[in-house]
Formats: sequence, C-alpha cells, structure tokens
Amino acid sequence: MCGIVGYIGTQTAAPLIVSGLKRLEYRGYDSAGVCVLSKDGLRIEKRAGRVKDLESIVDIPSIAGNVGVGHTRWATHGVPNDANAHPHTDQDGNIALVHNGIIENYLTIKKKLESAGYTFRSDTDSEVLAVFIGMLYKTLGNLEAAVRTALAEVEGTFGIVVLSVHEPDMIIAARRGSPLILGIGDGEYLVASDASAVIAHTRQVVYLQENEMAILTRSGFSTKTIENVDTRSVVEEIAFELEQIERGGFDHFMLKEIYEQPITFRDGFRGRLNAEEGSVRLGGLAPVADKLRQAKRIIITACGTSWHAGLVGEYLIEQLARIPVEVEYASEFRYRNPIINQDDVVIAISQSGETADTLAAIREAKLKGATVIGMVNVVGSTIARETDAGVYLHAGPEIGVASTKAFTSQLCVLTQFALFLGRMKAVSAQQGKELADALEQIPEQITRILDNVEPIKAIAHEYAQVSNFLYLGRGYNFPAALEGALKLKEISYIHAEGYPAAEMKHGPIALIDENMPVVFIAPKDEIYDKIISNIEEVRARNGRVIAIADDDDEHIPRVANHVIHVPRTIPMLTPILASIPLQLLAYYIALERGCNVDMPRNLAKSVTVE
Ligand code: M6R
Repeated sequence: MCGIVGYIGTQTAAPLIVSGLKRLEYRGYDSAGVCVLSKDGLRIEKRAGRVKDLESIVDIPSIAGNVGVGHTRWATHGVPNDANAHPHTDQDGNIALVHNGIIENYLTIKKKLESAGYTFRSDTDSEVLAVFIGMLYKTLGNLEAAVRTALAEVEGTFGIVVLSVHEPDMIIAARRGSPLILGIGDGEYLVASDASAVIAHTRQVVYLQENEMAILTRSGFSTKTIENVDTRSVVEEIAFELEQIERGGFDHFMLKEIYEQPITFRDGFRGRLNAEEGSVRLGGLAPVADKLRQAKRIIITACGTSWHAGLVGEYLIEQLARIPVEVEYASEFRYRNPIINQDDVVIAISQSGETADTLAAIREAKLKGATVIGMVNVVGSTIARETDAGVYLHAGPEIGVASTKAFTSQLCVLTQFALFLGRMKAVSAQQGKELADALEQIPEQITRILDNVEPIKAIAHEYAQVSNFLYLGRGYNFPAALEGALKLKEISYIHAEGYPAAEMKHGPIALIDENMPVVFIAPKDEIYDKIISNIEEVRARNGRVIAIADDDDEHIPRVANHVIHVPRTIPMLTPILASIPLQLLAYYIALERGCNVDMPRNLAKSVTVE
C-alpha cells in the first residue's frame, strides 16, 4: 500500500514525480503529495484525494527543483486528510520523508520525542519517523547516519525515501518489508515502489533487498545494509513494456485486463505445455523436482482472489496428483503456529508478490524447513525472490484493483502444475493430452465470451440496484462462486456471498425471496443434476436465478430467469470460463452504479501491511 517516488537528476522533479505517482495510484489513493528541494528550502504540496486533485490546485510544472519525493497514500494511521498526507517533515521542516509500511513502535518513539519537547502535526506513524530522524540529525550531523540510527530502533515495515536541505545533493532510500526499486538513468536516478513509475525514464532497475539502504546522488548510487555493510547490487531490465501499463483505449484498466485474457492465458502455457505428449515443462521448478516428487502434502497459502485460485488448485492437484492439499489464508497461517514438516511443499500464490501476509507465511514455512514455491505475477517481486523455486504467471502488469487476468492465469498455472505432478504419478499420457488439448482451447473460448457481452450488460442493468447477491457453485466452481462474489463486493459495494450450492439449504436459503438474485455456475458436469435441483429450490422461493451454463444446455433456460452461455470445456477448466462473465457482470453493475471501478473505496492493489 502507498506508492513512493523519489528523483535526483537534472530534470524538473515535480512533474516527473507526479506522473510516477499516477502510475502507483493502484497502491493507494487517499491522499497525494510531493516535496521538492529548492534554493529556498523544501517546498511541500500535499492534499487529501487523488493525484489529479493535487494537480488541480497546484501548478506542478512550475515547482522548480530537480531533487524530490512524492507519495500516494493508503491510510493506516490517521484519516485521509491534508495533514496526514505525505511527505512529512522533521520539526524544523528541513528533512522530508515519504513512507510505505507501518512503524509498529511509533507510540514509544513518539512519547520519547514528546518528552524531549517535540510536537506533531499529523496522526501518522510516518511523521514520528521523520521527526525522529530530524532529532538524530541534530547530534549526528549526517543524514545517512541519522536515517540508519532511526531505522535501527524502528519495529515494523517501511519503504522510505528521505531528502534534506542539509545534504541537498542526495536522497536516501531504505526498505524492510515494503518494496522499493531504483531506476538507473543517465545522470539521474529514481526510486519507486515499483517499476511502473520509472519505466518512462529507464528500463534499468535495481531491486532493493530487505534491510537495504541506497544513497543516490546525481553521479551514482551505492547500496548497503541498514547496519552499514556494503552490498552488491544487480542491475536488471524491466520485464514489461510501457504500453502494457496504459489503458489503451479502454475506459478502465479492469476492462482492458478482462479483455487481455485470451492472450494472458495463452502466455501462461506457451512454451510449457506439450499437448502431443500430454505433459508440462515448468523450468522454474527444476531445483525442487525431487522434493515435489516426494511431497507428502501440499499447503497453498494466499489472500483474496489468489486464495480462491488456490482452492481450485486444491481440487486440481488432489484429482490429478493424489497428494493431499490444504489451502490456508496466509493471514491465519502465519499466526497459528502451523504444523509444517520438511517433506511438505508450500505454494504461495500472489499477483503482486508483495502481499505482507503471504510473505510472512512463506517465511514461517521456510523457517520450519518446508520447500516453498511461488506462483507470482510480478517479476522480481519479494515473494518471487524469497521462494525456493517458482512459476511466473506471465499475465503482464495488472493495474485494476479488482484482480481479473491474474486469476485466470493462476488457474492456468495451477492446472499445469497439477498435470506436471500428476504425470510424475498416475496420470497417463492420454489423460494428459486430453487436459492439454482442452487447455489450449481456452483462449479462443474466452474470446467467444468476450464477443457477446450484451446479455451480461442487460442483466447488470436489471440488477444494479439490488442490495444483496448470492453466488453458488459446486466442486471446481465453488471457488469460482467465491471469486464472483468478491468481484461484485469490491467494485460495486453490493453485499455478495459465495457458497457451495449444496450448503444453501443449511442456512442461506433463509435469505431467498423475490429480491434476491442468485448466480449459479452450472456447467454440465457430473453434479449438474444436483445444481438444477438447487436452482429449483431457489425458484420455488421466488428467488431470481442467473445461470452460467454451457452453450449447448437447452434445459437451463427453462428453470433460470437469465442464462449466460459459455463454451463447453472439461469440468476441471469450467471455473476459468465461468469467471469471465462473473468479472463482466461485476464490472457492468459497478458502472451502472457509478462506482470507480479501478479504484474502489478503501482498497489498494498491493496489500503490503498486515
Ligand atoms: O497480490 P496478491 O495476489 O497477493 O493479492 C491478494 C489480494 O489482496 C487480492 O487478490 C485482492 O483480494 C484483490 N483485490 C482481489 O480482486
């Protein structure tokens, strides 16, 4: 959460920082601010609201100076108002700081500062750190030493960038738990929460490591640990193109990302799937192939949409590889002293690769000796780097806060992973071939769904003003129901619940009346008849049924109020195709309700705090 940009070079810093902040707004959009070092001192402009709100009241290009920092906030401590917006300064207004993370012991530090006579202008933990650095600077007389000494006392997480009028030709960055990358230009350097904020200026980046600091000047940069031991940094090339992080003619990133799925899904199996042999090659897993072969149990850990993908993964892996699978919310897993054995394989699924809970869960699993695999989208992200081996999703940058293409790519990778393990065990080449053939057809089948959105728009129009929705599915489609409900909640603020369809009669059926739309995912699989019975039960209580069904299903229009047809695939792959209309339904309902689809209230794309 929170996006950070810092710049030192020869260009006017403020517009460059602001355009970087716009690319980072998916990380938080409660308030925005910039601070530029000018000959008159620090000029700070910050406001509650979005970056464009700041731009509307401040003439950003007119802010002179070529060293600066900026921040877009997702509030943790203190409401989103002007005072709590970053950058924050020390008491004298000579040192400015932007921060992403949580200073857990800020109250202890604050008390110490207050008893020394310091006062505060905001409710944030971040200001406490800025003031603390300022106090230390007074005795140490050196910015780097002041930052280092302050961070040695800090508990919690931080990605920070600091600049000071005392040492105007330098910015200092440091991280623990919150990502930061350095952009390496020609006579100019950037620091940012991720590559999207620097790619317009340079493709050369350094991923700052845990507990690392960087000192950036116009003539170069150095990295060292927070404890002051020099480190060796590796310059890498950004793995995506600028166009991939632009809206490209779509009204919203979410819609663009929904429409990218035929391509992103194919990218997930390109060069991996061998349909002729019914096998999969996952090069990233080579270092742990023996561990996988011997695994007695697989634990999947993730949050949100990635956790839903993990639930589908459980069904797939148990079906194909016959290895017991447990799926854990990372936030629960990390705190409940889980039983983990050395022959367990833990899979962390994450689009961003930065989710704090998932990261903590894999650290716990590694500590207990498990082999840890990442299924991550963002190349070079912390989870990707901290796992023993992994498989990238290859979905490209996902900007919309509501995850869409990353989910289908996760299912693509999980299906292949299950087949990969299955072929080591009992799955025959012929069975593998059938699955691979079906998987290869998915991109074209997604395209067919995307070519026919009018019925979905009409349903969205009819139900946009209801207060509740129920989503029901069975087997592979129970997680798809959860995911459909999450999409709707996130972007339309309609209360929605996902349930296994058979559980309805154990409680949720009490909610059914003529005001309750129920979305059923009803492919023609081995439990189709049971789903039809569940639909009848809803209809008998005047509930309104929206069914997602196979395109050759002639029966279902007779029992459902509305049918969204999707192409037929094998049962294992049905949640992939079902998720496309569920994404579109949520999108069009949110549009009907006038919601901000890409930046829903209270949410951020990358949840880097607990
Ligand atoms: O980046 P991750 O996949 O680790 O993120 C996990 C969740 O925060 C994420 O899936 C969240 O639930 C999305 N907003 C869902 O659309």
